[in-house]
Amino acid sequence: MTDWLRDAVLYQIYPQSFADGNGDGIGDLAGLESRLEYLAWLGVDAVWLNPCFDSPMGDAGYDVRDYRTVDRRYGTQDDMVRLVESARSKGIRVLLDLVAGHTSDQHAWFRAAADDPSDDRYIWSDGQVTGFVPSPGSRPGSYLPNFFSFQPALNFGYARTDPAEPWRQPVDAEGPRRNRQELRDIMTHWIDLGVSGFRVDMAASLVKDDPDRAETAKLWRELRGWIDHRHPQAVLLSEWSDPKVAVPGGFHADFFLHFSGMAFRSLWDNGAVKTRWAKVESCFFDAAGLGSPEDFLAEWREAVEAIDGSGHISLPTSNHDWPRLASGARTAEQLRAAYTFLLTWPTLPAIYYGDEIGMRYVPGLPDVEGSQITPDYNRAGSRTPMQWDKADPAVTYLPADPSPDRPNVADQRADPGSLLHTVRDLIALRRANPELGTSGEVEVLHAGYPLVYRRGRFLVAVNPGAAPAAAPIDPPRGRLIFGAGAEGARLDGFGYAIYELV
Ligand code: NOJ
Ligand code: CA
Repeated sequence: MTDWLRDAVLYQIYPQSFADGNGDGIGDLAGLESRLEYLAWLGVDAVWLNPCFDSPMGDAGYDVRDYRTVDRRYGTQDDMVRLVESARSKGIRVLLDLVAGHTSDQHAWFRAAADDPSDDRYIWSDGQVTGFVPSPGSRPGSYLPNFFSFQPALNFGYARTDPAEPWRQPVDAEGPRRNRQELRDIMTHWIDLGVSGFRVDMAASLVKDDPDRAETAKLWRELRGWIDHRHPQAVLLSEWSDPKVAVPGGFHADFFLHFSGMAFRSLWDNGAVKTRWAKVESCFFDAAGLGSPEDFLAEWREAVEAIDGSGHISLPTSNHDWPRLASGARTAEQLRAAYTFLLTWPTLPAIYYGDEIGMRYVPGLPDVEGSQITPDYNRAGSRTPMQWDKADPAVTYLPADPSPDRPNVADQRADPGSLLHTVRDLIALRRANPELGTSGEVEVLHAGYPLVYRRGRFLVAVNPGAAPAAAPIDPPRGRLIFGAGAEGARLDGFGYAIYELV
């Protein structure tokens, strides 16, 4: 019953930045609903929304105060039901974000726990422990945070216990069992209202001190068994960035992301933000043409083997935590080759809102709702208002891209030669030809500039570099059905081609 996922194109929506329905400057569910026509026109099958639950917004909603209430800045539960129904009538499923590993320190559970030494919903020590945060309540001691200090980790137990560290409860202790049940109840609440599943935040973080994440995977496998039985139509996508572990661990799909493995960063990371992670010397989709697709291909192959057909690897364009495709020196003219790859490779494509028109990562923005991680790494640049038309966006959650030539949906929709039309045409081509989709075969013919691969009766070639490049293969015998700057296996800078072979 989750077959729909196999050939889906996903679209991620940052709700506060997408569309404002009531004119208060913050995106909301009614605004989103009014833009469903656009998403249907674009051809996406499912949207996933960042958290839109009641929250003090210290981490833009990843600090949940109440899992069952829509934050009032986004609307009401009725608005959510209307959105989900209206999306379904247009063939689009809605997934929500399940923040499974922690709550806000303003959640009623945590407020109670901070005054009650017997409460075991969170991870508490009687004294001060390195990495723990002092108790804000009458309870002595400290608690373990999961991300920011105001995000106390829910207690799913430890894979390894130690009598000297009594806060390390086993995974089947009462608190962890209660929290696991709570996850089921929260999911049921939203699925019963029509939601089609969840993107799960920090899915790998649940069981602590868990070598190879074996106990965490066991927990999710158990939940997956329950989902398959109780809600067989629902899907779980993990923020884990290790599909070879996450998918056998129970998820329908896992994203290749920036924080683990090199698959994602070796493709797109051109240094637009500086992080504590090792620098990618040259990513593959870079004008200099000094990268290679090999790191991506190696991790992808390893994951495909481990998954063995039981789920998918999702490849996003970017997300709310990472610079957009159009970031740093990568300009919009370079993106068509990237989209040709994204939409003809057998991963599950996920388009981050605005990337389809080439919205840019905007450096130098203020720290809004915890966007700033370090002085050199501000996530706000990827969270700016969706650019619907020439006017300044109605959403003022963050300043808009100030460039006079910033792209917008209205202009690109009116221009058949625009990036937006290229993305839409590629989505349509993928849908019409399952060989180009997630489950079709792929044979790599040249892993360099240009990257050339065969997908059934199609041959795809992309050149992410600025210099012309030719693959040392026989020229494809067939018809160019999509592309620009291509002559056989020789491509101009940023050229891209899909041939139908004879
Ligand atoms: C990952 C989310 O994507 C990010 O935005 C958030 O800050 C952390 N998890 C904490 O929930
Ligand atoms: Ca609003």
